[in-house]
Amino acid sequence: MSEQKKFYIETYGCQMNFADSEVVNSILMKEGMNPVQEPESADIIFVNTCSIRENAESRVWNRLKEFRSLKKTRRDLTVGVLGCMAERIRDNILDREKLVDLVVGPDAYRDIPNLLSEVEDGRKAVNVLLSLEETYADISPVRTSGNGVSAFVSIMRGCDNMCSFCVVPFTRGRERSRPVQSILREIEELNEQGYKEVTLLGQNVNSYKHDSVDFTSLMEQVSRLNPEIRFRFSSPHPKDFPLPLLTLIAERTNLCNYIHIPAQSGSSSMLERMRRPYTREEYLELISLMKKTIPGVSLSTDIIAGFCDETEEEHQDTLSLMSIVEYDLAYMFAYSERERTLAHRKFEDNVPEEVKKRRLTEIITQQMSVQLENNKKEIGRRHVVLAEGTSKRSDQQLSGRTDTNKVVVFDKENYSKGDYVIVEITESTSATLIGKPLQAVTLSEFSHIAVYA
Ligand code: 5AD
Ligand code: SF4
Repeated sequence: MSEQKKFYIETYGCQMNFADSEVVNSILMKEGMNPVQEPESADIIFVNTCSIRENAESRVWNRLKEFRSLKKTRRDLTVGVLGCMAERIRDNILDREKLVDLVVGPDAYRDIPNLLSEVEDGRKAVNVLLSLEETYADISPVRTSGNGVSAFVSIMRGCDNMCSFCVVPFTRGRERSRPVQSILREIEELNEQGYKEVTLLGQNVNSYKHDSVDFTSLMEQVSRLNPEIRFRFSSPHPKDFPLPLLTLIAERTNLCNYIHIPAQSGSSSMLERMRRPYTREEYLELISLMKKTIPGVSLSTDIIAGFCDETEEEHQDTLSLMSIVEYDLAYMFAYSERERTLAHRKFEDNVPEEVKKRRLTEIITQQMSVQLENNKKEIGRRHVVLAEGTSKRSDQQLSGRTDTNKVVVFDKENYSKGDYVIVEITESTSATLIGKPLQAVTLSEFSHIAVYA
């Protein structure tokens, strides 16, 4: 049926969604279909969607309208929606607007070939069932985009936390973890293909638990696979950071000294409304423990401005928490109410738009100046940078990341993509470091030479 057909996938949202698109690549290519890089040359267009905030959804709706115009000139074109918006779009296509032909939720990708045959037979095809087991463990993702140096490996799916603002438990379902052996096998394959960096992914990555293996023990096992592959993880929850995990990160050269630790707010009363299971004080204690246990650790966070009933004092608490922690990076958002969440059912989205905007701007402005100061301190330091590819500014320069996840640009000289290079930082902005390359190293030898200034 679908043989030799060309498909194009456009992905929105989090890294998990990008990883899912690679799973879909694999499923479709097994059916004999070929991926293409632009929608115009595709027979089937998939949009892998995100529901996290209103504006993420609006972008998708607009894009689907553009594809509808394309459909008018090409009657044989099929448009499918994947991912977190599936359920919403299902209601929509079954009603009236003929935007899409098939709708597939995050746990139903194996069903895409069947659904495509239904479409060929002239029916609308929908599968938005969530699963308690699906982890796509046996499917090797096909990484058609990406730099060939760093890859994402999904280790668990779903979320059981039920933060009151968040739609993810409803779009992606319950938490479930992938068997260790299948994770190790996928990393082995990446190793054979020459990848140097792997980010373990999950909506709640450090809640990983399969049989008796927890996240700390999984990290221990992956870090032993090859000392020359370095590992990151995203996105964790503050509730699952046992000391042995921090100690392991500190001890292993190939476990990056970078932790994303979403605070959401710096106010204990707000955290309670958000149904986050920690207080400001407990969060700050964990941060101190991280800084003490992992010298030089770099921290990043997620913050929401203007959640229900937020007072000026609670907002000030967020600003003060952020200035105490001095994050190297923050993802900052204005609260956007989502249907089905506890906040939608129980609270009122009552912080006026202009107040949300003003608070968000204050948060962003403060964060930018913290980053600028943090990055000024980087000047004169030396870092091991994994070169990811040619810099956007100049083809005579390479761009890569430090172990602490900071972007560094440096002269190419004789270095290549995939090399670990010691770089001395000479200049910085709030977002980027610029440096002078000194020598290529292996990660294992780096553990024996002290290069930090
Ligand atoms: N409004 C704004 N931001 C949100 N996030 C999750 N839900 C919402 C929402 N309804 C943010 C949180 C989360 C990140 C992925 O997105 O900060 O950690
Ligand atoms: Fe967006 Fe959340 Fe779904 Fe990721 S899991 S695509 S962030 S709604």
